[in-house]
Amino acid sequence: EDTRKGGFTHYMLKEIYEQPQSFYETIRAGISERVRKMVMEADEITLVACGTSYHTALIFKYLAESLCSIPVRVEMGSEFKYFTPPLRGLVIAVSQSGETADTIAALKMAKARNCPTLAITNMQGSTVTRIADQTLLMRAGPEISVAATKSYIAQLAALMEIINVRCEGAFDDVLSHAHLAIEDVLLQEIKEAVDLCAKAEHIFFVGRGPFYPVSMEGALKMKEISYVHAEGYAAGELKHGPFALLTSETPVVAICTPCPTYGVMASNIKEMKARRAPIIAIGVFGDTELAEIVDIFIPIPKTHLLVQVLTASVVLQLLAYHTACALQRDVDKPRNLAKSVTVE
Ligand code: G6P
Repeated sequence: EDTRKGGFTHYMLKEIYEQPQSFYETIRAGISERVRKMVMEADEITLVACGTSYHTALIFKYLAESLCSIPVRVEMGSEFKYFTPPLRGLVIAVSQSGETADTIAALKMAKARNCPTLAITNMQGSTVTRIADQTLLMRAGPEISVAATKSYIAQLAALMEIINVRCEGAFDDVLSHAHLAIEDVLLQEIKEAVDLCAKAEHIFFVGRGPFYPVSMEGALKMKEISYVHAEGYAAGELKHGPFALLTSETPVVAICTPCPTYGVMASNIKEMKARRAPIIAIGVFGDTELAEIVDIFIPIPKTHLLVQVLTASVVLQLLAYHTACALQRDVDKPRNLAKSVTVE
C-alpha cells in the first residue's frame, strides 16, 4: 500500500501532486475530429453531472458563455431525470467514473430525445461511453481517493479544450502551459490558513463568476474530508442571509483575482471584515492592496483567467487536505461516502 502511495501520506495528496500531469496529458491527447464536429455544430450545450463533476460543469458554463458566447445549461443528474427541461443542442454527461446512476439516467433521457450526446469521463469502456454518441476521455489515470482532485483538473482540461475548439484555438498557448502554473501552486505555503480552518465550525467559501463554482468545490472538499461545515456562496449573495452568521469565528475564504469583478469582490471582502469574519484571500502575487485588507493572503501566479481557475482550485484542495490531516480524519476514505454512487 505504501509503495502505491509513492511516498505520500495519502492517495489524495499523491493525486493532488499528479495534477500538472493530468491536465497536461488531457490537453495533449486533444479532441477527435468527430467530437470537434459535434462541438462546432452545437448552438446550445446542456451538461449533466453530479458532485465535483457538477462543479466543473458550472465552471464551464461561466467560461464558455463569456469566452465563446455559446448558451450553456447545467443540470444535476438527480434532478434532470424527474424534471427534464426542454432540450435543444448537444448534451454532455460529465462523470469521472462513468458509472454514476443519476448521470447515466440523465444521459439516457437525452438520447431518448434524440439529442447528440457526448461523454466526458476518465474511464474507458464505462457505462456513459457505451450510451453516448461520442466520448472525450480525460487522462487523469486511476483515482483512488474518494475525494476527486486530479479528475476534477482533467475534466476542466477537457472542458477548456472544448472552449478552445469553439474559439478556433485562441487558447492553445494558455492551455499548453497551464500545467506549469499548477506545479508552482503545489509549493504554496498555507499553514496559517489551515490552522484557522481546523479551529472553525463553519467556513464560507466565496467568489464571483467562475470562482463561484470554484468556491462551491472548495466547500465540498472541506466538508467531505474534514467534516467541517462549509458553504460555497456567490460573494454578492452573502448579504441576503449568511451575513447573519458571520462572527470572528467564521472564516471566509475569498477568491479575488484580477478579472472584471475584482473591484466589487474587494468591497465584499471589506463588508465581511466589518462583520469581524477573518478573511483568507486567494489573490495574485504582488497584490499588496488586497494583502493589506485581509487576515491571510495566499498568492497564486498572475495568469490567464482559465489558469487562475485551476490554480485557485488547487489551493482549496490543499486547504481541505491539510485541514483534514490536522483534524486526523480518514482522508482517503471519508465516512459515509463512496467513490462512485451507482444507486439513485
Ligand atoms: C461521488 C464521489 C464524488 C464525485 C461524484 C460524481 O459522490 O464521491 O467525488 O464527484 O460521485 O462522480 P462521477 O464519477 O460521476 O464524476
